[in-house]
Amino acid sequence: MSRIVILGPPGSGKGTQASRLGELWGVPHISSGDLLRAHVREGTELGRRARPYMERGELVPDELILDMMQERLSAPDAERGYLLDGFPRTLAQAEALEGRLEALGQRLEAAIYLRVPEAELLRRLSGRRTCPRCDAIYHVDTMPPKREGICDRCGAELIQREDERPEVIRKRLAVYAKQTRPLLDHYRERGLLHEVDGTLGVERVPGEIARLLAAAEGG
Ligand code: AP5
Repeated sequence: MSRIVILGPPGSGKGTQASRLGELWGVPHISSGDLLRAHVREGTELGRRARPYMERGELVPDELILDMMQERLSAPDAERGYLLDGFPRTLAQAEALEGRLEALGQRLEAAIYLRVPEAELLRRLSGRRTCPRCDAIYHVDTMPPKREGICDRCGAELIQREDERPEVIRKRLAVYAKQTRPLLDHYRERGLLHEVDGTLGVERVPGEIARLLAAAEGG
């Protein structure tokens, strides 16, 4: 049973790794960012309220996120575990997740922190391309699609996300440092934090995560 949180700054590879590990382990990859972008695309009330925060690179208010995540985590496919990407992002969100798990008699297995220096984050975010239909992630240099500009998985035209303008990226990095980085200590104090070198190649990171989790289980 895997209930795992993937932590790290924007561009550290949370979505890339959570998607791969989810397929490998047969549990859903649940990304708060992908869920929010789907709400924005579909023009729901939540999407309408979240959009201005996302465009500015700020966090969407906790109460909107908590309702959305509560609903997603209650879906049948999340019963056997999940990989969380982008949630929790504040201490209030982490505490809400813990409260939910406790009420269900469940526990979080681990929090994986992908460590990547800022210069590399900027390089990755400026070259990222995303599929607006299936949320697959590419990079023009390091993970290009087979046909330029076209998603390998579903054939849709790839896009650059709206929050990838340089000034918004800078804001997202600052918001991460102030509001999300404190979660590292939160999970470290609970003995759940595992640090991974996120600069390893895309193919090597899953193996490293599996190795750390196996060592933690053994110890
Ligand atoms: P969200 O969508 O969660 O964005 P983020 O956390 O800023 O992270 P990213 O999706 O930009 O990066 P990533 O770490 O997933 O990296 P990726 O795998 O794509 O959130 C967007 C917005 O939604 C927020 O700003 C906020 O407004 C709102 N929001 C979301 N959740 C919220 C919450 N809980 N509370 C409040 N607000 C919330 O990889 C990046 C690039 O690098 C790709 O091109 C990839 O190909 C490449 N790459 C990945 N790994 C490697 C590698 N090992 N080597 C080389 N290249 C690599």
